[in-house]
Amino acid sequence: MNEREKLQEAASYIQQQLGDLPQVGMILGSGLGSLAEEAEDPVVIPYKDIPHFPVSTVEGHAGQLVCGRISGKQVLILQGRFHYYEGYSMQEVVIPVRVMRLLGIRDLLITNAAGGISLDFSPGDLMVITDHIKLSDSSPLRGPNVSEFGLRFNDLTQAYSRDLQHMADQAAETTGTSLQHGVYAFMGGPSFETPAEIRMLRVLGADAVGMSTAPEVITAAHAGMRVLGISCITNMAAGILPEPLNHEEVMETGRMAREKFSSLIRELLARWEITV
Ligand code: HPA
Repeated sequence: MNEREKLQEAASYIQQQLGDLPQVGMILGSGLGSLAEEAEDPVVIPYKDIPHFPVSTVEGHAGQLVCGRISGKQVLILQGRFHYYEGYSMQEVVIPVRVMRLLGIRDLLITNAAGGISLDFSPGDLMVITDHIKLSDSSPLRGPNVSEFGLRFNDLTQAYSRDLQHMADQAAETTGTSLQHGVYAFMGGPSFETPAEIRMLRVLGADAVGMSTAPEVITAAHAGMRVLGISCITNMAAGILPEPLNHEEVMETGRMAREKFSSLIRELLARWEITV
């Protein structure tokens, strides 16, 4: 069985469990996955039941698909994502994105926890991702191109949809949430970065740093999907403050920002205009 057939088998399995087909795919990051509990008429599918699906290992990531309705939109939520630092290949990390595309999903909302590099940011801020920087030369699209999804040399100039960014600004205005905007730098982890790396990233134009998202966005763009990315700034990046960084702080700030984040997403979904 080739890669494409495996992806199709995963998509077919999910499709069999679902009534209504999902309209918006959502990948929720560290500490933010609880939004899935708000889905009405949920169908929950553990990753381990889905053929050829990787299984999440990191603490704070539930490892299941939740399909249901939020703010009138049919959503498919990846509750717990796969990270490169867990040992998966880039190709494995993006399996869910390709499966979503095979399910007919064209719009993707991706959230993550990130360290703030911009000195204008504070922990708890939400940042709309306008673009990303990936210094690592590994790519989820390395290897033979799967032309059913997209082109060999795909364009990333609009990987983060301007229309969806605009929609996020409007939703934030309605919910009274202030939104930052900025460039997300992907670093492989699992160590947090060094202070020197953070200074480098700032010089290069990054506003926040994290260990996810860029591979999924590249794959989504390849498959012609529209992406909205939102980072929760859970901590100031290494070396900005005197204190060392730790995962508990990341999770705790994620939890504290959860209600603000959830109401923004609810409003976003209410406004979301489906492209198919
Ligand atoms: N660096 C990388 N990833 C992160 C950070 C960070 O400071 N905070 C949350 N995820």
